[in-house]
Amino acid sequence: MFAGLLSWFSVTYFPENRTILRLEPYAQINYDALPDDAELANLERGRSYYVQLCAQCHGEDGSGNGEFRYRMVPKPANLMSEKVVNKSDEELSALIRDGIEGSAMAPWDNILSPVQRKQIVGYLRYLNLQRIYLANG
Ligand code: HEC
Repeated sequence: MFAGLLSWFSVTYFPENRTILRLEPYAQINYDALPDDAELANLERGRSYYVQLCAQCHGEDGSGNGEFRYRMVPKPANLMSEKVVNKSDEELSALIRDGIEGSAMAPWDNILSPVQRKQIVGYLRYLNLQRIYLANG
């Protein structure tokens, strides 16, 4: 019965009614829905590239508010906008490869391999899911 049924518990203290501890199960892990190790490794690669190469303009959270933002016109794109999020993986990867002429968005084709671009796109998807999750409390 308990095998495979793992829950996390939160502990709460309620001074008003002197309940000292209350254990509340709040999530059951669905092992089938967890990413496998290869997916996690790709995500971590994507995060690492993004933080080092993109975040100074696009911001840690992808919203376009990186520390160099004030230096450039046009401003770094908000990568969490509907417009960007609705693009396919292939479209995003091609944008990163080719850059955007007349802006600070350089082409990365000599620097990032197709696999590396895919990993970054995967991380952008993750950032967006995290944003939605945080916004919904
Ligand atoms: C030096 C600043 C800078 C860096 C570094 C940078 N970008 Fe950009 N990026 C921009 C700017 C500015 C634009 C918007 C250009 C425009 O609006 O014409 C942009 C646009 C984009 C777009 C297109 C968004 C759209 O609206 O279609 C994507 C995708 C993107 N960047 C991803 C990345 C990724 C991924 C990296 C890291 C590999 C990166 N950028 C690094 C400045 C930067």
